[in-house]
Amino acid sequence: MHSLLSHNTFGIEAHAAYFMEYHSEDELKHMVKEGVFKERPYFCIGAGSNVLFTRPYYDWTFLHSAIRGMELTYEDANYVEVRVGSGEVWDEFVQTCVSRGWYGAENLSLIPGEVGASAVQNIGAYGVEVKDLIISVETLDTNGYRRIYKAHECEYGYRTSIFKQEDKKNIFILYVNFRLSKHPCFKLDYGNVRQELGEGEATLKHVRKAIIDIRQRKLPDPALQGNAGSFFVNPVISRTLYEELRVAYPQMPSYEIDTNHVKIPAGWLIEQAGWKGQRMGPVAVHDKQALVLVNLGEATGGDVMRLAKAVQEAVYGKFGIEIRPEVNFL
Ligand code: EPU
Repeated sequence: MHSLLSHNTFGIEAHAAYFMEYHSEDELKHMVKEGVFKERPYFCIGAGSNVLFTRPYYDWTFLHSAIRGMELTYEDANYVEVRVGSGEVWDEFVQTCVSRGWYGAENLSLIPGEVGASAVQNIGAYGVEVKDLIISVETLDTNGYRRIYKAHECEYGYRTSIFKQEDKKNIFILYVNFRLSKHPCFKLDYGNVRQELGEGEATLKHVRKAIIDIRQRKLPDPALQGNAGSFFVNPVISRTLYEELRVAYPQMPSYEIDTNHVKIPAGWLIEQAGWKGQRMGPVAVHDKQALVLVNLGEATGGDVMRLAKAVQEAVYGKFGIEIRPEVNFL
């Protein structure tokens, strides 16, 4: 039996029958040959920054990519292309880009997790999504079939991709290929990023620092207080509902999606529903960002689910809007 405590940022205790790591494509191929995937259910876990364990024990094999390395595969006057192992820590990759003068990833600074999961989840922050940087994703499935998905084949959307589909759960990400720019292409218009930067010149290092400072002010550090970042995705609602709500709540923030749809920040909805900072047993809604649920210590997945349900019901009761979890319930 293997403890999963150190494999989830929520800090929830659970156990797995087996936990295996692969350090290379060949090692994963060997596991396929040995029949590892035929023995029992399996789940590929990254840094565990987007999962909620809802059971105390899983008679499963958990697999973790430990494929490391960042290789420069192409370079011209304008761009670089980099092939990165799925087990690399996401923020170390961002740090490398920034220190080498490669532009594009800086707004995604300090997002927890690993490179493989970034391509599954299409991580995003401050006006940038990782799909904007991805060229292709190299994969191996549990039958030993290798396939490179070009970015347009990954079906990227807001916090989603083809790799989240139920019939694609047997696909393991080996490497992600990214394209970064050698010239400034900053995106500074989201929220208070420009204000955080101040008057000085925008450089890669300054933008990274501004993003880190904003995140550290709002988001709890999982090392100190268990959490999985945004617990819910921001709901997309019809323009008709949006127009109705705006009459009652003229200050409601929103983002345009298309002529018929508008995205509303779930954090705002939760705060208006009175749940920001509220506690329920060993879990709470974070007091600085209501989109985040935190483990106050020794919480179970059940405790988190109860709080999530209460928050969802409160938001639905007040606004008629369903908010869905972003976190993957296991
Ligand atoms: N807001 C409130 N109260 C709150 C939280 C937010 O009123 O408690 C309002 C803010 O004032 C602002 C708006 O909601 O007007 C948006 O807030 P924020 O910029 O903090 O972003 P978010 O929509 O709550 C999303 C991502 C975050 C990402 C930020 C910044 C999702 C699910 N979450 O949050 O991603 O860091 O934007 O780009 O889209 C994550 O995925 O784990 C994550 C942290």
